[in-house]
Amino acid sequence: MRAMPAGSVDLVVTSPPYNLKNSTGNGMKDGRGGKWERAALKNGYSHHADCMPHQDYVAWQRECLAEMMRLIPEDGAIFYNHKWRVQNALLQDRSDIVAGFPVRQIIIWKRKGGINFNPGYFLPTYEVIYLIAKPKFRLAPKAGGEGDVWEIMQETRNKHPAPFPVALIDRIIGSTNAQTILDPFMGSGTTAISALNFGRDFVGIDVSPDYCRDAELRIAQHKEALRLN
Ligand SMILES: C[S@@+](CC[C@H](N)C(=O)[O-])C[C@H]1O[C@@H](n2cnc3c(N)ncnc32)[C@H](O)[C@@H]1O
Repeated sequence: MRAMPAGSVDLVVTSPPYNLKNSTGNGMKDGRGGKWERAALKNGYSHHADCMPHQDYVAWQRECLAEMMRLIPEDGAIFYNHKWRVQNALLQDRSDIVAGFPVRQIIIWKRKGGINFNPGYFLPTYEVIYLIAKPKFRLAPKAGGEGDVWEIMQETRNKHPAPFPVALIDRIIGSTNAQTILDPFMGSGTTAISALNFGRDFVGIDVSPDYCRDAELRIAQHKEALRLN
């Protein structure tokens, strides 16, 4: 992101690594994978272990958010997907990451439930999307009527360990007039697929050459499918 000029994208849509292997209580640390339906993540990502000391992780994510803020104009916004978690029986709501950034709204992404193995908690079924917006950001006409709780099934047919469902990103991109959309943690390229669905431009970044290769292939196939339709 540092190599990109200020104000060069209209919108950022992203989901960073959640630092899951640093978490207690979900079986990630000891490799069981716990209740996570995507147990593939118990091995981390192909080029990122997802196990940083918490304070380093928070500092890194704040640096990333500051860069994203630099890259959007005065009417730009960031949709930053994250997951709250419980550490040592205390809720960690990620306010340490987003403190000081202009969080305008929290959207609840309600996923499908699973099986609860922990008698101390209700089954967690949602993730959050922080809408971090500069002052002149506006939604597309009528998009606001969608409300702030979105019930969308998680993705199950993608070999990336933590992909967005396309429908979730379609909801976001379709709610804006953004022409150029950045995902600095693009993984399997879902943000690009959705940008193509709306005829928008995209920039995708990922540390993993393997995921970049898979995303390029997926994007090429999707372009072809759109061309044939
Ligand atoms: C939650 S996944 C994103 C998945 C994506 N939303 C999708 O639909 O496939 C987070 C991604 O961040 C990538 N990542 C980890 N560290 C990174 C870094 N320093 N720079 C860029 N990408 C990184 C991982 O390789 C992983 O693909």
